[in-house]
Amino acid sequence: MSGKPTHHILVCASFRASGQAKGVCNRKGSTDFLPYLEGEILDRGLDALVSSTGCLKECKKGPIMIIYPENQWYAEVDSEDKIDEILDALEDGEVAEEYAL
Ligand code: FES
Repeated sequence: MSGKPTHHILVCASFRASGQAKGVCNRKGSTDFLPYLEGEILDRGLDALVSSTGCLKECKKGPIMIIYPENQWYAEVDSEDKIDEILDALEDGEVAEEYAL
């Protein structure tokens, strides 16, 4: 990948102004899946960049994941299976409705 990626995937890591990742998504394990997500992107050859973020203001439904420029928002992304389904849908140009916000 070089230059601007086709997809930008944001994963809430609950960072607060203090710099600490203490919010709901982080407590629910959002960052535990970052290595898996990065691995899947490589395996699938997706032109996607992953960023962990501050609170995305949907804490009760966390962990939250957003895909741009599609503007797809996903809730309760807490397993490798869900990540697989979300990336399958992305590759097909679709939305994984079951987890969509
Ligand atoms: S901590 Fe993730 S949306 Fe608020």
